[in-house]
Amino acid sequence: MIFRWEVFIFFLFFLYAAFSDSDVLTIKIVEDIDNNWANNLWNQPQTKLTLEPKVKEANFSGPSHFKSLLGKCYEKVTTSYRYVFCPFRNVTQHEISLQWKPYNGILGVWQEWEIENNTFSAMLMRDGDKCGSIYRSVRVVFTCASKNQVSDVSEPQLCHYLLHFETPLVCQKQSMFVYPYLSSNLKDAWDEIEGELLRKEITEKGYKKELVKIFTAAGFFLSDETKKDLAKNISKKTADNEKTETKFESLEKCSAEYTRLLAEMEGLRTLISLTARLKEQERKEDEETPGYKSESSSKEHTSSPLLKNRKKKN
Ligand SMILES: *[C@@H]1O[C@H](CO)[C@@H](O)[C@H](O)[C@H]1NC(C)=O
Ligand SMILES: *[C@@H]1O[C@H](CO)[C@@H](O)[C@H](O)[C@H]1NC(C)=O
Ligand SMILES: *[C@@H]1O[C@H](CO)[C@@H](O)[C@H](O)[C@H]1NC(C)=O
Ligand SMILES: *[C@@H]1O[C@H](CO)[C@@H](O)[C@H](O)[C@H]1NC(C)=O
Repeated sequence: MIFRWEVFIFFLFFLYAAFSDSDVLTIKIVEDIDNNWANNLWNQPQTKLTLEPKVKEANFSGPSHFKSLLGKCYEKVTTSYRYVFCPFRNVTQHEISLQWKPYNGILGVWQEWEIENNTFSAMLMRDGDKCGSIYRSVRVVFTCASKNQVSDVSEPQLCHYLLHFETPLVCQKQSMFVYPYLSSNLKDAWDEIEGELLRKEITEKGYKKELVKIFTAAGFFLSDETKKDLAKNISKKTADNEKTETKFESLEKCSAEYTRLLAEMEGLRTLISLTARLKEQERKEDEETPGYKSESSSKEHTSSPLLKNRKKKN
């Protein structure tokens, strides 16, 4: 984008220079280009978007047939955004816009399952980009369909997104039951607390607590320890983010420089049109003078009072 602007600006300068057919003005234009400005532009770091996740994604977990989604990404394009859902990886959002800094960000990173009524009910992608004092997150829910696709993305609560994913993987209800995906050890543990609950040896609350332990041991829920592990790289990533911000800062400066230049160009434009009018007037006067050759007099024209004035300013 930035280089196109630059080319455009130079193009305009040369266009004006060519049309003005005045040596003085051409020289003036070249001098007017601030060296710093030119250097800034040429030395701009590439504005490649680096979406830096704040946490590492968790390992795959859950119903084994969902492994078929590993390594795949699904897009959803709306009028203003392109969403990309990479199961067990991340959800990103890309603003479709011609503005200077369209939003490109991470809405969530794969963490764990939501389990309701002993059934896998949603994928939770958390710790996306910062949103005020919280981090963006996405709840991915599934509906049965013949083909894998993101059918809808909404934001029911500020920075908490809901992504509807259509997939044949959930068409068999039992395929989302948690129990079959547990190791035999954990199945045994579950059987045991089930018995204890029946015999009223534990409370409903105690039973639920034990169940959470089982789901955590299976990796469907993240333990606090694993959460910490995944976030360990935050500090390193934060340092990277700061670097990115510096880049934007200098881009903003550059943008300001561009605005300043536009204003200056406007000034030149006015000058050129004034000069042209002045010349036209002079030429008319020349033509009215018999025996005067207008071509040979071009040198004198460039030293019109206006241009002399401009020259002196340097
Ligand atoms: C999101 O996941 C995809 C698939 O693994 C990966 O290629 C991409 O780099 C990830 N994006 C971010 C911002 O981490
Ligand atoms: C992911 O799996 C690898 C290999 O099995 C293991 O070493 C690592 O600790 C796991 N990471 C998490 C966050 O569970
Ligand atoms: C919970 O799941 C069982 C089957 O496992 C089903 O019969 C029951 O209706 C479900 N309850 C709710 C509240 O969804
Ligand atoms: C943090 O990042 C380093 C390399 O960047 C990697 O080797 C390490 O496994 C990461 N830690 C966690 C907890 O993912």
